[in-house]
Amino acid sequence: AEDGYRLWLRYDQVQDANKLQQYRQQVSEIVIEGSSPTLAIARKELTQGLKGLLGQDIIFTKQPTKAGALVAGTPASSPVVAALQLNDKLKAVGPEGYLLLTMPVNGKNSTVLAANTEVGVLYGTFHFLRLLQTAQDISKLSISSSPKLQHRVLNHWDNLDRTVERGYAGFSLWDWHKLPGYIDQRYLDYARANASLGINGTVLTNVNANALVLTKEYLVKVAALADAFRPYGLKVYLTARFSAPIEIGGLQTADPLDPTVQTWWKDKAAEIYSYVPDFGGFLVKANSEGQPGPQNYGRNHADGANMLADAVAPQGGIVMWRAFVYDDKEPDDRAKQAYNEFKPLDGQFRKNVMVQVKNGAIDFQPREPFHPLFGAMPKTPIMMEFQITQEYLGQATNLAYLAPMFRETLQADTHTKGKGSTVAKVIDGTLDNHTLTGIAGVANIGNDRNWTGHLFGQSNWYAFGRLAWNHQLSSESIATEWINMTFSTNANVVLPVQDMLMTSREAVVNYMTPLGLHHIMGWSHHYGPGPWIKDKHRADWTSVYYHRADEKGIGFDRTKTGSNALAQYAPAVQKQFGNLKTCPEEFLLWFHHVSWDHKLKSGRTLWNELCYRYSDGVQQVRDMQQNWAKVAPALDEERFAHVQSLLKIQEQEARWWRDACLLYFQTYSKRPIPQELEKPTQT
Ligand code: GCU
Repeated sequence: AEDGYRLWLRYDQVQDANKLQQYRQQVSEIVIEGSSPTLAIARKELTQGLKGLLGQDIIFTKQPTKAGALVAGTPASSPVVAALQLNDKLKAVGPEGYLLLTMPVNGKNSTVLAANTEVGVLYGTFHFLRLLQTAQDISKLSISSSPKLQHRVLNHWDNLDRTVERGYAGFSLWDWHKLPGYIDQRYLDYARANASLGINGTVLTNVNANALVLTKEYLVKVAALADAFRPYGLKVYLTARFSAPIEIGGLQTADPLDPTVQTWWKDKAAEIYSYVPDFGGFLVKANSEGQPGPQNYGRNHADGANMLADAVAPQGGIVMWRAFVYDDKEPDDRAKQAYNEFKPLDGQFRKNVMVQVKNGAIDFQPREPFHPLFGAMPKTPIMMEFQITQEYLGQATNLAYLAPMFRETLQADTHTKGKGSTVAKVIDGTLDNHTLTGIAGVANIGNDRNWTGHLFGQSNWYAFGRLAWNHQLSSESIATEWINMTFSTNANVVLPVQDMLMTSREAVVNYMTPLGLHHIMGWSHHYGPGPWIKDKHRADWTSVYYHRADEKGIGFDRTKTGSNALAQYAPAVQKQFGNLKTCPEEFLLWFHHVSWDHKLKSGRTLWNELCYRYSDGVQQVRDMQQNWAKVAPALDEERFAHVQSLLKIQEQEARWWRDACLLYFQTYSKRPIPQELEKPTQT
């Protein structure tokens, strides 16, 4: 069935007849020596991939016998590769990179795929197949590719009972009940999909952690998963519940400065490494949203992180300590808390600690300005945390391609070391000279047949992985690749779908939270509009806290006259965002309380502009529906109908958002909705 299970690794036969002809000549035989598990996977991938794409069986030889050989391997695994003397070029691509070169081998024109490690060969294998999947010219390859970030990690917010926090694609993939004995084929397919993107780490468990995963009963199951993933270059990490020494260790305290606690974690880490020799380390959420942490004992985040870092250091493990913190005391502005708690600790973390920072200071909104911690802690490796699962972007019924959102943050200029101090340079270590680097994405994967619930959710897993490897790729080029691989290389499909992808995130921003509005979603589940929600539990969990609409205007004043969260940014950014005239309109209501009649660049008043943006959002979804209708003739019925019915829901929801927000905000603005716009209907 065409249910989306095959993701972007479909390998259907090349559609263009000329291309097919060329490729058949250019890839006529394969030379790949070595029998390790990783090379066996590469060989299998090439066999299946080329068989599918070229529609013919593949011949394996020991040496190139004619033009059109693909020679793959490392100097250690392959005498043919070793003889090519590629050492200098290989040195430059590091442990995970690879070369794809058109060159003569034994006098025969060949394609050489060489890497320093077998995982590098596997990554290059997927790259090579992608070139064919996306109908590229492979006659003169001169590719040298290596990741800009060291740790490229998925964060699964999966609970041990298989529910997934903020997961909208079924239950957790990890079948703890059948582990360790039963290795589901799906684990291998999951690892393979990650390897195709270069994702090299997976945190199996929820940041709201359950200490039980650290007990022997679970560790044997974790080890089975790690064994299954290893040949794909995928390392396993776990979340560490800070109070585990009490809950499963029988200690009286979890104070990080208490020697018995330190010893407990050292022993625990050693035990984990006895099951998983290449265990990656811990991801920790502490003193946030009720989770235990070092502050319970009067200690700080560095004390907590360092204790765990010391426990995993002997085996080369790392700690990813999250900066998403807010406590039980209501702050004057929740956006300020992470910076306030972490910035003073810069320079106090161990060498194997990364501080993992969400892209924005509130919480994975459809649009947020970059988090002020980027660039603010030059002595500490800062790791990016994106959310791939669409908690606040319509979950699995809304189509929102997130590459433009990821790129917007990565390209944002922190100005912390002058112009050009982009967030990307902070996290890739080039700005402040760090070698420990990384990026995390909160996964949108579950056991739904198509993995991500919405077929287009796959594009976000894909985009995250591609950007984790190379943050300089454009959203457009990633979209084209994904469309080519998932649907077709035919322009009749590519153009309309490209259009859908590229407008989708802005559409969501428009119909949910235009002009810098944020966190006005339904209470707790965050699905659908809820701008009217007030003080159910605490002020900063409610919408009115964030939009602050009143008779005069709307927006959160984060300048000096308000919370002054703006002061956490570099002076150049303060200057730009702090001034109503220069603040980018997409962040206007994030930083300013603006009067309803304030004139915007469009010449409209704020109120009218708001009405237009909400209406635009609805229109953009309708355009997506029309674009999708165009691809019907070229697509299988099953995937077509799936997306079509979800777009119908999305159109209803866009109207729901528009109507709810405009009618609600109108009770403050007391101004009419411009006549030319579609009237909201009271539901
Ligand atoms: C959000 C989300 C929570 C999650 C938290 C986190 O607040 O709603 O479910 O636990 O982020 O990132 O820790």
